[in-house]
Amino acid sequence: GIMDIAVNINPGDKDMPKLLGDGRRWGVRVTCLEQQGGPKGLAHIVMNAKEWIGDEPFVFYLGDNIVLGSLRPLVERFEREGLDCLLSLARVSDPRQFGVPEIQDGRIVRVDEKPSNPASPFAVTGIYIYTPSIFEAAEKLQPSARGEYEISDAHTALIHAGKQVGFEEVTGWWKDTGKPEDLLEGNALLLAQMKNPEVSPDAVVEAGARIEGPVSIGRGSRVSAGCVMTGPVAIGEDCVLTDAVIGPNVAIDSGVSLTDVEIENSIIMQQSTIHGPCRITDSIIARHARIHVHHDATRTSSRFLLGDHGVVEL
Ligand code: G1P
Repeated sequence: GIMDIAVNINPGDKDMPKLLGDGRRWGVRVTCLEQQGGPKGLAHIVMNAKEWIGDEPFVFYLGDNIVLGSLRPLVERFEREGLDCLLSLARVSDPRQFGVPEIQDGRIVRVDEKPSNPASPFAVTGIYIYTPSIFEAAEKLQPSARGEYEISDAHTALIHAGKQVGFEEVTGWWKDTGKPEDLLEGNALLLAQMKNPEVSPDAVVEAGARIEGPVSIGRGSRVSAGCVMTGPVAIGEDCVLTDAVIGPNVAIDSGVSLTDVEIENSIIMQQSTIHGPCRITDSIIARHARIHVHHDATRTSSRFLLGDHGVVEL
């Protein structure tokens, strides 16, 4: 039921608004909000969105958090219990790199940001639900030792102000994707959950191409006779795959061109080109990247972590 989404961006970022568009393709409205003064912490992001949000409850979702499952139970609990703030908690082996709640008699009494002695085995995940009372709490904050307006301090301030701060434990998979391996793990888990994978009627799959397991192929993509796909695999729109062996656990965004390449457990972003012969595993290849192989590199697997417009010649 969430129809309006604002995305916090750095001042002057022209790329993100272009990439996201107006949200129509997901059936929502997307607005990009420049964070005035640059990155100054999560509570600052919330304050920055105050005018846009107005007088409504809202979900604050950190873009690097991946959860499996729906936000609906969280929203329902928030509404049912008439809360001012709902925190979602995940049990983690080392809470020291997160916001950590101290819980007494089933209630959160304080949240510490990256404590060296965590008061509980929980991380506060980056999925929060608030009423506008968060603005009053955030407004009064001072920057922390790392120079940020900490969202954990805003939570503690809410509790001190007597607001209703509840929590729900996330029992499904949750990850704060700080590392490339986390993104690949999240990618594999999301692909495994793919609902109704389908080959678009507007894609061309030549006779002779082999497709096994859950594979989705977007509009306008072409798959040559020599291709083999082993799902789960998701391929976007307007891709051209020639003699490519893809999967499992591969997500390919739109406009990608792959020739004579084997790819497993990887993410390939928009408009990238890979020209083999080569074998690629456990890789993240960003937008408009180019890999060109001039000799047979299929005997070993290559791993790439390539940024936008990255170029590799082998
Ligand atoms: C941020 C928050 C932290 C929270 C984490 C969840 O940490 O400050 O409280 O537990 O996100 O992903 P950061 O990503 O800024 O280190």
